[in-house]
Amino acid sequence: MGVTQQQIYDGLDLDLSWSEADLPERVRTKHVHRLHPYLGKYIPQLVEELFRRHVPARGRVLDPFAGSGTTRVQALESGLDSAGVDIAAFNCLLMRVKTSTHNPFVLERELRDVLTRFAAGEGSAGRPSAYAKRWFAPQACTDLLRFRSLIADYEHADVMRVVLARAARSARRTTHFDLDFPLEPQLEPYWCFKHRRECKPVERAEHFIRRYTLDTLERLKEFGRVRSKRSSTVLHGDTRELELPGPFDAVVTSPPYPGLIDYHEQHRYAYELLGLDDLREREIGAAASGTSKAALAAYVDGISGVLAACAASLKPRGRIVIVVNDRRTLYPEILERSGLALEQAYQRHVNRRTGRRAGEYFESVLVARRA
Ligand SMILES: C[S@@+](CC[C@H](N)C(=O)[O-])C[C@H]1O[C@@H](n2cnc3c(N)ncnc32)[C@H](O)[C@@H]1O
Repeated sequence: MGVTQQQIYDGLDLDLSWSEADLPERVRTKHVHRLHPYLGKYIPQLVEELFRRHVPARGRVLDPFAGSGTTRVQALESGLDSAGVDIAAFNCLLMRVKTSTHNPFVLERELRDVLTRFAAGEGSAGRPSAYAKRWFAPQACTDLLRFRSLIADYEHADVMRVVLARAARSARRTTHFDLDFPLEPQLEPYWCFKHRRECKPVERAEHFIRRYTLDTLERLKEFGRVRSKRSSTVLHGDTRELELPGPFDAVVTSPPYPGLIDYHEQHRYAYELLGLDDLREREIGAAASGTSKAALAAYVDGISGVLAACAASLKPRGRIVIVVNDRRTLYPEILERSGLALEQAYQRHVNRRTGRRAGEYFESVLVARRA
């Protein structure tokens, strides 16, 4: 929290500062954590350790910024009940698919059936939207829309919707090195920094649909073997406005950072293809809002509103655990305005080795209780 470099090193928690060799990407993205890309998530091993330190066994935990569902998935693995809230409809769909119980036999039968029908040319693409025409090559567009037309026939339609979104993300007309926030479609071959050769924009989506359907099936089955039967709820909306289903033993969360990521926009293709509700004007700290003085004041207001609601839903001995990179020292004011008192803070070293945003930095874990 506004700490100096020396304090960071003094307070560094080595048990939470894994190296790439300790925790390779394959382990960080085990089972359902890799059902769909999501920029801005924390890793399940961190959440597991925070549960061990701050949540009573068989307790109940809340994540008011639940994102891709890391807290809730880990809660199921750690034998805790959980609830999560997120403003972005796609994130809620993704979490629901990750955390629902799926009958593995029905799931497998349905996913294989939809692939067989798709390979046989069933389904109809209908008329593509302006977005689909612009962002997908003609064949890729037909593949995606034809697959979409088959989905409603199945009990596991939501699983297929996530597969469709993942295939659409890979099939967009963009460069291999700019999958996160492409601004313009890439229509011509280009020099690819990632592969160090000339690459061409994608033309088909059918191979992605097949590969991701089978990968999703394996990942859901794998998670089904390690998860507990604890309850797990997801609420879609603005945490400041919903009635939170407390009381909770703890809150474990990583809030959005000011002006860094647009959580709706990063999955724009999913909103376009699946017709999901767009509530981006309620997103706290969106990149689109920038980091002006007014934007930072709105951020402090927004996060304080969420944490105050969380505090009110906590049991008396409950703790709020916040993972944050507070570069602007906003959290002392946020905690005070939320009616929280800082009890403990430790730092962890993060060394991200993959992707264009690779690099190292420190983040804090703030542990607070009701003041
Ligand atoms: C840093 S991400 C959380 C990522 C999560 N820890 C994970 O591992 O997937 C922050 C999340 O807060 C959500 N969010 C932003 N404003 C919100 C609001 N007013 N109410 C609920 N969620 C909100 C965003 O949609 C985003 O998914």
